Amino acid sequence: MGSRWGFLIRFLGAVWLLGLGHCEQQTPETAAQRCFCQVSGYLDDCTCDVETIDKFNNYRLFPRLQRLLESDYFRYYKVNLKRPCPFWNDISQCGRRDCAVKPCQFDEVPDGIKSASYKYSEEANNLSEECEQAEQLGAVDESLSEETQKAVLQWTKHDDSSDNFCEADDIQSPDAEYVDLLLNPERYTGYKGPDAWKIWNVIYEENCFKPQTIKRPLNPLASSQGKSKENTFYSWLEGLCVEKRAFYRLISGLHASINVHLSARYLLQDTWLEKKWGHNITEFQQRFDGILTEGEGPRRLKNLYFLYLIELKALSKVIPFFERPDFQLFTGNKVQDAENKMLLLEVLHEIKSFPLHFDENSFFAGDKKEANKLKEEFRLHFRNISRIMDCVGCFKCRLWGKLQTQGLGTALKILFSEKLIANMPESGPSFEFHLTRQEIVSLFNAFGRISTSVKELENFRNLLQNIH
Ligand SMILES: *[C@@H]1O[C@H](CO)[C@@H](O)[C@H](O)[C@H]1NC(C)=O
Ligand SMILES: *[C@@H]1O[C@H](CO)[C@@H](O)[C@H](O)[C@H]1NC(C)=O
Ligand SMILES: *[C@@H]1O[C@H](CO)[C@@H](O)[C@H](O)[C@H]1NC(C)=O
Repeated sequence: MGSRWGFLIRFLGAVWLLGLGHCEQQTPETAAQRCFCQVSGYLDDCTCDVETIDKFNNYRLFPRLQRLLESDYFRYYKVNLKRPCPFWNDISQCGRRDCAVKPCQFDEVPDGIKSASYKYSEEANNLSEECEQAEQLGAVDESLSEETQKAVLQWTKHDDSSDNFCEADDIQSPDAEYVDLLLNPERYTGYKGPDAWKIWNVIYEENCFKPQTIKRPLNPLASSQGKSKENTFYSWLEGLCVEKRAFYRLISGLHASINVHLSARYLLQDTWLEKKWGHNITEFQQRFDGILTEGEGPRRLKNLYFLYLIELKALSKVIPFFERPDFQLFTGNKVQDAENKMLLLEVLHEIKSFPLHFDENSFFAGDKKEANKLKEEFRLHFRNISRIMDCVGCFKCRLWGKLQTQGLGTALKILFSEKLIANMPESGPSFEFHLTRQEIVSLFNAFGRISTSVKELENFRNLLQNIH
């Protein structure tokens, strides 16, 4: 209880400091300052500062995490990209080649994508070998002992009941396919404008605990929303309980991270000879510049760091699950699997050593009844958001949207399961807490995305410093 009040006081202090938006008053001069001036020093809701996070992420964590994500276990993600959108019908399928996802089973690709990926037929042939590997990954169930099979049944029941923050993707469906994430990088696809805004607006407007009457400032380009509405929105946000505010900030952080990627892997040149992807500073500024976005941009970047810290915290909490001797990163290659597990634990202990983890107890541990109620609300809202991802018209965006919401959902599941994890038996199957392969792959890849975004911010900071 004590830490909760202490936290609230710190929090209110932070809101007061940050709400003033000192950037607007000092008329920052350089392009870099206009995006980053608020994004330095201490973050609200946390005692850590951006510089410490940058140094920790960019130089210690990021390189090892990248290596881990390139391993077979983490690069194949099974996903059903053909689930119908449960909320509306008029999904405009983005026909651009850059939107297409190349799944492993080429002959199952729908015509729409197939015609878009004619260019990759050689690559598609090459894929068959990788598909064999991917199929092996699916074989994990065959190697289960009787005891584990019993546990699996329990997990399935458990997963279906109360702990999942995402609508489970029906990965048993024939529509579900393995996708090689390394072959389908998240980058600019041309999917933007009204279609993309619609998705985000539905997410913010209907799913972030928001009363109907208050309009959120819409998108970076729609400045007609006006200042007064924006201020109403933020005073509403600040009036929310910490947890619900946190929910909004997580979604906003996710949105920011995705936009950092699109700006950093922008399609700069598109000729029949060559495609070139790289940093587009204008695009970045349109989304994050304090003046161009009427103050929204720097807030978005702060939310990105907030999301980073939440996922970092979840990873540090889940170590006991991965440390258990019978946990394997199973791909069938014993030597490599063991090496990868060592690398995984190394990454996790690096994460645990981060000196400024924030105190998530202040978020999720009120009195028990209140906490349970909140958990349930979080879960329902979040599940809904994971279903909205089936409405994203661009397949590649849908793939990464699904992966990242599932990863964040898994992080939340971990944070809400702290006691179950602490009580887990050291060996033998754990009946109470479990992560599926899909959750593990999405958890680490989603965090990999946020970690990459933080690294990219350093690149943009440097690029912006060279212009005025
Ligand atoms: C396919 O594989 C061959 C041999 O491994 C390689 O030389 C070629 O570049 C690959 N093609 C594509 C498009 O990846
Ligand atoms: C789920 O999303 C739909 C579509 O945006 C919305 O109508 C509904 O109110 C949402 N439900 C919850 C619990 O957030
Ligand atoms: C960068 O992005 C802007 C839109 O934000 C676009 O107008 C411009 O053409 C892009 N630059 C390049 C080199 O593609």
